[in-house]
Amino acid sequence: MDLWTMTITAACIVMGFLIWQQRSLWVGRKLPPGPYGLPFFGKLFGMSANPPVQLKLWSEIYGKIISVRLGRNLFVAVHDFEVAKSILHKDVITGRDALDVMNVLHEGQGLVMGEGDRYREHRRFALTALRDVGMGKSWLEQSVLAEVSDLIALIDRSGAKPLNLRPHMTQSVSNMICALVFGKRFSLGDATFNKLCNNVGINLQLMSEVQPVRALPFLKYVPFGKLAQKWRTLKANIQSNRTFIESLIDDHKQGHATGHNGGTSNMDYIHRFLDERAAQLAEKGETTFDDEQLYYSVVGLFGGGTETTTTTVLWALIYMVLHPNIKKRVQDEIDAVVTANQQVRLEHRGLLRYTEATILEVQRLASAFPLNGARRTNFEDMEIGGFHVPARSIIVVNTYAIHRDPKYWPDPLQFNPERFLDPVTGNVKNPPGFLPFGIGKRSCIGEPLAKMEVYIFFANIMKDFDFQPVGAFNVDPENFSKASTVIRAPLNFELQFARRTVVA
Ligand code: HEM
Repeated sequence: MDLWTMTITAACIVMGFLIWQQRSLWVGRKLPPGPYGLPFFGKLFGMSANPPVQLKLWSEIYGKIISVRLGRNLFVAVHDFEVAKSILHKDVITGRDALDVMNVLHEGQGLVMGEGDRYREHRRFALTALRDVGMGKSWLEQSVLAEVSDLIALIDRSGAKPLNLRPHMTQSVSNMICALVFGKRFSLGDATFNKLCNNVGINLQLMSEVQPVRALPFLKYVPFGKLAQKWRTLKANIQSNRTFIESLIDDHKQGHATGHNGGTSNMDYIHRFLDERAAQLAEKGETTFDDEQLYYSVVGLFGGGTETTTTTVLWALIYMVLHPNIKKRVQDEIDAVVTANQQVRLEHRGLLRYTEATILEVQRLASAFPLNGARRTNFEDMEIGGFHVPARSIIVVNTYAIHRDPKYWPDPLQFNPERFLDPVTGNVKNPPGFLPFGIGKRSCIGEPLAKMEVYIFFANIMKDFDFQPVGAFNVDPENFSKASTVIRAPLNFELQFARRTVVA
């Protein structure tokens, strides 16, 4: 045997041993089953650019709860709705993965990536403050309706010209968050505001693309590498948004010091935050409501609220193009309830059941947060579905897969709003296997706002316009999304809009 053959043989034996060792570790500790990977790297190079789809494929081989080693991390993915429901309510799983690329933006703080007592205090505050400043209140509905009017005017101005609605939707939806957080909206032509909006989407995409840096941090230092370049762009975008947000926070601080608007304390989220800080300092002499927490909370509200809502409305338009009969049924229902010169409002919602069911079916198949938002991690060892999961594993709920589980959704890829209607009463129902906003202790804090926005934007566009794609639109929605671990957004598409004339 020559030296070369001996080296190769020795390397094979070591590799074989490591793979065997890794396997015996899994079996011995009853970790969830999953695909074997390379020593040290695990399945890092076997994970496709579309993790929710890849994990679903593995779950079809190994079972509904699987584990995958990615670099130094153990990744546990849950594909069973009942198991997901039971764990999402537990405190032990409210941790966030410190190495998650989302942390480039959130730095372990604020509403999205914070954890522990401080996070719990701020989540409680956010839920109350958002309610106080308007979530679920009529002025907010007025604001959404004003955004819709602007958007509809913009579509009118485009005439028969094909239009990519994404940037305009993003601006309108961001403006709603601005109304809540900053107490003001921006003109759709404001250059700094446009940059902020664009950066939110671009950053989410970049955060997915620089994912390998999370497992192998040295990659961000490789000169001239694409990853290093994307990493730098991401950091520069984040800094530019930070400057903009902090200037608005500074304006608020000045207003707050001088008794903003005659001392009204419920005007917007930032003012409520500053009030809470003052109250805690007066009462206890200390507070967790500091400047860092304020900045990261604002970032969390933008991050959580912009792309998700925009994406859902864009998917809704795609499904309507692909299902003209359903589109017509939605439009007929709206025409029967809302007069031609009215806007569709919350008061009509109870009568627009098919429209509502259509939105829910869009949310099911769109699965805007395919892995249920930012990754979770468990503070202590725990059991999931009878398997052992060591502390600080990365735990994801594959919402994308659960929303396609035939146990809950017969013929899952068929777009069928009837799934969400009770066959006897015709009322809208919320069947098991549906969790677009997550469940439990870290579920979406903007759910009421998101539901209102999606309904008002979608229903008013449907009421006012017919729309069709430019040329052939042979789109399979299952394969029409940007590769991303964070948001499942559709690829770019253009539509031609035409005003509807409704014959009374
Ligand atoms: C259709 C639109 C939306 C969808 C589908 C959505 C979905 C979700 C999901 C799945 C989660 C993670 C749940 C979990 O980890 O268990 C989440 C978290 C969050 N969402 Fe939303 N969301 C939407 C709109 C909004 C809006 C409008 C806001 C802000 C007003 C918002 C703010 C947040 C925040 C701050 C979190 C983090 C909560 C935490 O970690 O405790 N979301 N959202």
